[in-house]
Amino acid sequence: MSLSIVILAAGQGTRMRSSKPKVLQPLAGRALLEHVIDCAEGLDADSVHVVYGFGGDQVTDALSHRKVSWVLQAEQLGTGHAVAQAMPNVSDDDCVLVLYGDVPLVRTETLDPLVQGAKAGSLVILSARLDNPHGYGRIVRNTDGVVQSIVEQKDASPDQQKINEINTGLLAVPAKHLRRWLGSLSNNNAQGEYYLTDVAEMAVKDGVAIEAIVAADVAETQGINDKIQLAEAESTYRQMRTRELMVSGATLLDPSRVDVRGNVTIGKDVTIDVDVILEGEVVLGDGVTVGPFSHLKDVSIGADSNIHSHSVLDQALVGQRCNIGPYARIRPGTELADQAKIGNFVETKKAQIGEGSKVNHLTYVGDSIIGQNVNVGAGTITCNYDGANKHQTVIGDDAFIGSGTQLVAPVTVGSGANIGAGSVITKDAPADTLTVGRARQVEIKGWTRPTKKPKTET
Ligand code: UD1
Ligand code: CA
Repeated sequence: MSLSIVILAAGQGTRMRSSKPKVLQPLAGRALLEHVIDCAEGLDADSVHVVYGFGGDQVTDALSHRKVSWVLQAEQLGTGHAVAQAMPNVSDDDCVLVLYGDVPLVRTETLDPLVQGAKAGSLVILSARLDNPHGYGRIVRNTDGVVQSIVEQKDASPDQQKINEINTGLLAVPAKHLRRWLGSLSNNNAQGEYYLTDVAEMAVKDGVAIEAIVAADVAETQGINDKIQLAEAESTYRQMRTRELMVSGATLLDPSRVDVRGNVTIGKDVTIDVDVILEGEVVLGDGVTVGPFSHLKDVSIGADSNIHSHSVLDQALVGQRCNIGPYARIRPGTELADQAKIGNFVETKKAQIGEGSKVNHLTYVGDSIIGQNVNVGAGTITCNYDGANKHQTVIGDDAFIGSGTQLVAPVTVGSGANIGAGSVITKDAPADTLTVGRARQVEIKGWTRPTKKPKTET
């Protein structure tokens, strides 16, 4: 039986008080809806239908790169009406899983039993037990515990309002039953909406097996309606991801102060200090340490390298046994070979830095290729930009660049070359030679310091 997933994402989300549709609000740096689409893909769905409405093109434009079919619900007439919009694209032989675009933390492991139940012919609802169930639809069971119906808060009797098992909204069901039931929904209820939840009673009437599975972890099924719940979800997401890192063996000095906003792959004995953000695709090899207040985005760090505090790395490849920072800024296109060293207040961009080379202090290296065992002195600048175009600097193996050197690109420094401190290098500097490009030091005989004029009384 094929699996069709329908994601409901048409609601406005007024309580966000934002010009952005709710499902585009960011969680861990990505739209809520994108997390739900990821989950759908994790379930190996044969097709994923996203029902959108409020914010229209904004939603489809922002997520145009995702392989889903977009279904417009022009008017938001209720959850039942929303699912019905997707049904023309769903075959009767399928099983349908309904997800919400604003319930982003649900895991595939939690949804698997719903899909299995639906494939076996049942209607399976994901429920949760809440201390305060106010506002949610309640799961009504008979004395034998068999689910009879779902009643919405506004339609519930005082007795039903005491039920603390709520409907999360997520459910799975064979498409052929769902199509029939959606066809006979009415909006004769307190909110004048076509409720998806009415299918529970219809299943009972039709003798279709019905089951509500209570979610083990309530946080996973939490819908997000305002910025407070968004921040809570961010915190839950952080806990889930840091827990995974610790289960894989990472030492986190304070897991509540590490933000994982992407996919992190780690080796053995990785240590991450506090207030670190890991974003995008991050690979940390065996024995890597990440110092406090560092931000790593789309980087791969080789074994036994140390990222010292307050370093920012973006789209970089770092070899083994490298040292970076404190206070380093490693920009896109930086590649460090093994045992390279980048010190404090150094910025690199589109730079290849060879094995064992050192760029220790207050330096800018951009559009550069640096060989092995090169020493770049403090305050060196590759002048890579002429105001219109970028140019390359090449430095050969074993070169020594004196402090305060300006390398005006395009320029090449030969291997084994020495550059005198304070040089402005505008022409290629030959290998194994001392090149000095600075004004000669002179002594001015008889020069006297200026003196202050005596103040005249007025
Ligand atoms: C719904 C459930 C309720 C459950 C609660 C869980 C119904 C009738 N009620 O209530 O039992 O406890 O979720 O949060 O199903 N949506 C559309 N189009 C619409 C209406 C809604 O796409 O016409 C989408 C929303 O964007 C949202 C989801 O469906 O992602 C749920 O809608 P919402 O209005 O939040 O439902 P509730 O009234 O909270
Ligand atoms: Ca809701």
